[in-house]
Amino acid sequence: MNPRPVETFARGGRMAARRRTASSGEARQFSRVAAIYDALMAGIAYDIWVRYIHTLWSSRGLDPRTVLDIACGTGNVSFRLAEEGLRVAGVDNSQEMIAVAESKLSRSQRLEGNPAFYCQDAAELDLPFTFDSALCLFDSFNYILDYERLCSAFRRTLLHLRPGGIFIFDVNTVYALSHGFFDQDNLSSDSYPRYVWRSSWDPASRLCTVEMDFEALTDSGVETFREVHTQRGYTQEELTRGLESAGFSDISVFHAYTMRPPNRRSDRLYFVAQRPPD
Ligand SMILES: C[S@@+](CC[C@H](N)C(=O)[O-])C[C@H]1O[C@@H](n2cnc3c(N)ncnc32)[C@H](O)[C@@H]1O
Repeated sequence: MNPRPVETFARGGRMAARRRTASSGEARQFSRVAAIYDALMAGIAYDIWVRYIHTLWSSRGLDPRTVLDIACGTGNVSFRLAEEGLRVAGVDNSQEMIAVAESKLSRSQRLEGNPAFYCQDAAELDLPFTFDSALCLFDSFNYILDYERLCSAFRRTLLHLRPGGIFIFDVNTVYALSHGFFDQDNLSSDSYPRYVWRSSWDPASRLCTVEMDFEALTDSGVETFREVHTQRGYTQEELTRGLESAGFSDISVFHAYTMRPPNRRSDRLYFVAQRPPD
C-alpha cells in the first residue's frame, strides 16, 4: 500500500498539529482505514495493474474464467475483473475492508454473487471452490509476518487452484522497506483524507513498522486516527523456496509491471507460479 510516489516526510505540518487536539486513538490495521481506503487509492493505477495481470496470464497461455483475489481489500481488482466477465471471489481478513467491498456491489452483482466476498485469513483459506488463477496484489503478503504462515498461505492457495492454474502476487522488496518507501505524506493536498506516514526498519527481523496518521472528513467533522502497519521484507529466495515447498512449479519473478528480471533496486516484485498440471 503506497498511494503516492515517495515524498520527503514533512516534519510537523498542519496535520500533526491537529492530531494533538483531536486524536481518536490507535486502530487495528485495515480497520478505520477501510472507510477511506478508496479515497486514498484514488491515484492508484489499478487499470494498468489489471492489464499487466492479463499480460502475465497471456505469457502462460492462460485465459482464465475464474479468479481468486486474495487480500482483495475493498475489491478494486475484483470488481474490474468481474466487469470483464470473469467470475471472481475476493477474500480478506479485515471485516471492515470486506464490508466496504460488499457495500460497492450493485444489485445485479449481488444477485449474481459476482464478485463474491469472504472474510478469511490467507493462511487458513478455505473455500469450497477451485479457480483458474489466484492473485494477491499490493504487497498484501508482506503483512504476513511469520514465514511459516506465509508458506501456509501458499499451500492453501495451491489447493484452491485447479491443476495447471496460475498464481500471481506482488511484494514490497527488502530494498523498498529498508529505504523508507513508506515515508510519505500528502499534506500539500487540500482535500481529505490527509495522511502522514513514518516508517522504521529493523534489519534483524526485516520488519518495517509504519505509523500512519490520518485525518478524514466524516459526518461528525474532521477525525484523526492512527493505524500502525507492519510489513516483513522477504527475499526472492525465501519466496521462491516457500512456493516450491507448497508444490508450485514454473516460477518466474519480474521487476513490477515489466517482463524484466528484478534488479537490486527493484521496489516491487511480481511472482508468477503454476500449480503443476495433473
Ligand atoms: C494494501 S491492502 C491491498 C488490498 C487490495 N489487494 C488492493 O490492491 O487494493 C492489503 C490487504 O491485505 C489484507 N490482509 C493482510 N493480511 C492478510 C491475511 N493474512 N489474510 C487476508 N488478508 C490479509 C488487508 O486486510 C488489506 O485489505
